[in-house]
Amino acid sequence: MISNRVKNITPSATVTLNGKVSELVAAGVDVIAFNIGEPDFDTPAPIVEACQKALSQGKTKYTAASGIMPLRKAICAKLLRDNGVTYEPKQICVSTGAKQALNNAILAVVNPGDEVIIPTPCWVSYIEIVKLADGIAVTVPTKESEGFQLDIEAIKSAITPRTRAILINTPNNPTGASYSEKSLRELGELALKHDFYIVSDEIYEKLIYGESKHICPAALSPEIYEHTIVINGFSKAYSMTGWRIGYTAAPKDIAKAIDDLQGHTTSNSTTFVQYAALEALDAKNDASVEAMKVEFNKRRKYLLDFLRSIPDVTCADAGGAFYLMPNISKYYGCSYNGMVIKDSFDFCTFILEEAKVAIVPGASFEAPDNVRISYSNSMENLERGAKRLLQAMQLLKQ
Ligand SMILES: Cc1ncc(COP(=O)(O)O)c(C=O)c1O
Repeated sequence: MISNRVKNITPSATVTLNGKVSELVAAGVDVIAFNIGEPDFDTPAPIVEACQKALSQGKTKYTAASGIMPLRKAICAKLLRDNGVTYEPKQICVSTGAKQALNNAILAVVNPGDEVIIPTPCWVSYIEIVKLADGIAVTVPTKESEGFQLDIEAIKSAITPRTRAILINTPNNPTGASYSEKSLRELGELALKHDFYIVSDEIYEKLIYGESKHICPAALSPEIYEHTIVINGFSKAYSMTGWRIGYTAAPKDIAKAIDDLQGHTTSNSTTFVQYAALEALDAKNDASVEAMKVEFNKRRKYLLDFLRSIPDVTCADAGGAFYLMPNISKYYGCSYNGMVIKDSFDFCTFILEEAKVAIVPGASFEAPDNVRISYSNSMENLERGAKRLLQAMQLLKQ
């Protein structure tokens, strides 16, 4: 018999769609993938070489559960340089991806029945991570008209004596929003007043464009630092999604708890991958990150202009990550060939079938009026996909 804890997990609603995409691709159909959640760039060569070197030097044994000391020191140096926050190596825990770091953080602070506020739209795993810790996910919508920025008044109204944490992600998956310093300061004040943690997922930190600036809440004041658990990793900045390595930086007591927890789950993240991550943090790889960012920004501008040119579609500008979240709800109720578009799932199924373009229903991210489009694909494919998307949407009639 399956435990209630696991039975209660909602399987990813995108899995069905991904299954259809795979079937089409296997049948030789030219599907253009705008559903991708990882950079379409190679891991920079020096990182790959560092891993190979570590392997050939026999770095294949257990390390401390929290990771090798040089890596933890390098993460501290990165956090000081990029984010203006001071941590000691014992406050760092290296994990098997930011996903494990998030699970660790929530398990470390949430007791059964505790509430965790999650601004929405949010990444698909957030609500499930809270449920797995027997916590209660309290979703608080952000507004498309405000660029999906944090709605501090709505957050205030959601706080109760059981609020233990808020789980934020800036820059954000799926909206691309990057939270303003003002809103993060106000959030910090709330965290102090009501004594809850800000779990700050900063995995898209390096992918930030134009005027937007990435702010780590822990940098805002020594008091907010004590109420912040920073989550970051290598997947998006260095195109290392498959390497599975991320980390937490936290106040000492939380870091110790996470270390104890990880010591009984996975222990250390893969040893030779830790050496690759150490290399990633070397300044010589900054140019690769910058080149990727310049390319993403070109695509972002193209896609934003394109989406805004489609009749009855609105799209908030987004200063980070590699996603845009157009609102396509004016197309609900429209039909083509007997198929009526009732919601974002129907819309994405229609687009996949008619345009052979894969996009993700916003409902999977608590954004029922929207769809998520990833621009982690070549400019050529973006242009081809955009054309097909428009042609298919023109078929839809009220
Ligand atoms: C918001 C967010 N946090 C965390 C992760 C997981 O990152 P990692 O690959 O380091 O586990 C992702 C991956 O898509 C993400 O979008």
